[in-house]
Amino acid sequence: MKNKKIILGITGGIAAYKAAFLIRLFKKADAQVKVVCTQHALEFITRVTLESLSENRLYDAVFAEQNDYTTEHVALTDWGDVFVVAPATANIIGKLAGGIADDALSTSLLAFNRQVFMAPAMNCKMYEHFAVQKNLAFLKSQGVHIISPAEGFLACGYEGRGRMEEPETIFAIVDAYFAAEESPLKGKKILVTAGPTHESIDPVRYIGNHSTGKMGYAIASELLRRGANVTLVSGPSNLSAHDMIDFVPVKTAQEMFDACMSIFPETDATIMAAAVADYTPETISKHKIKKEQNEDALQLMLKPTPDILRQLGKIKQKQVLGGFALETDNEEDNAIRKIKSKNLDFIVLNSLRDAGAGFSVETNKITIIDNKHQITRYPLKNKTEVAADIADTLEKYFSP
Ligand SMILES: Cc1cc2nc3c(=O)[nH]c(=O)nc-3n(C[C@H](O)[C@H](O)[C@H](O)COP(=O)(O)O)c2cc1C
Repeated sequence: MKNKKIILGITGGIAAYKAAFLIRLFKKADAQVKVVCTQHALEFITRVTLESLSENRLYDAVFAEQNDYTTEHVALTDWGDVFVVAPATANIIGKLAGGIADDALSTSLLAFNRQVFMAPAMNCKMYEHFAVQKNLAFLKSQGVHIISPAEGFLACGYEGRGRMEEPETIFAIVDAYFAAEESPLKGKKILVTAGPTHESIDPVRYIGNHSTGKMGYAIASELLRRGANVTLVSGPSNLSAHDMIDFVPVKTAQEMFDACMSIFPETDATIMAAAVADYTPETISKHKIKKEQNEDALQLMLKPTPDILRQLGKIKQKQVLGGFALETDNEEDNAIRKIKSKNLDFIVLNSLRDAGAGFSVETNKITIIDNKHQITRYPLKNKTEVAADIADTLEKYFSP
């Protein structure tokens, strides 16, 4: 968010104190912040706090002597890249929806023609009121990004929806907006697979692997952050995907194959991070296999599962196709062979020999190899940072 210019609007609600944390988050990310607030906001948070944290003069009155310009609302709104109102009272929501400009904040909002974010905060009865809901629906339809309030215990003693979203969440939403604005992945349809597959042996047992889905989920989130339309096909995992991700849960390798085959033709890119079983039991016992009937040994006959990556490589047209390789030896040679045999654009290689790489852990150490055999080695990083490196790689294929 370096050097992005943020106008932060603050209104008269208890959550105004949280705006101080939000300013800190923006400043820590090297953004510039100018605050414009209502007179009622100053009942809840002081000018000194806002000016000290933002390192800019507060704009709170249309006709104030210290204004830099006589039409400060226009100068301010020309300056800002985005306008974030947090907290947004029922009052300011109604004013903006109705085109009212009777103080510094509402006047500035009307003079602003770029992206506006509003984080409503109020008593749950106020939030559910038909007038507020009608105003929010109208603002949404006009492109205002409404950051829905959370449910929970409210400062007024009520329990319900109306608590302003946490500053970290508001920050993440604005951050994602800037990331998407600048990313060539914005609007691209991208399929990501994640997690293990479970191949049933009988009604209670399966063959699986140690994949948790962390890497694939992190990639899906990062691509979403950059404005892509993401579909996540996931094997069984305890993780939950962002609600803006099109989530397709599957269990077996065959189910993952079927899902990928139907989604892939419509995509611009696909990243296969799932740890798909290579073999599955030839037959699934209808009843639980009894120990007493297999005292010495239990023999399972396994058959190969469909090779999803190879099949996608075969039918690939315009799609950028990236795969994963988890190897234990001859890592780079094996990965290069996989690129060729599966017609991939690039492969993300991680080795189980590297400490901190692979399943279950929060970190990964990857090497990305493309189909011209260009090799980029990365240091050990957390999986969110690794996901950003993979998204950077993908961006190169869509850069003009
Ligand atoms: C202690 C207190 C807390 C309030 N909290 C909220 C709130 O969270 N949300 C809201 O919409 N109004 C709240 N109000 C009412 C607003 O302050 C009031 O509607 C005011 O006119 C809003 O003005 P503004 O939007 O210009 O800041 C609160 C009032 C008081 C006295």
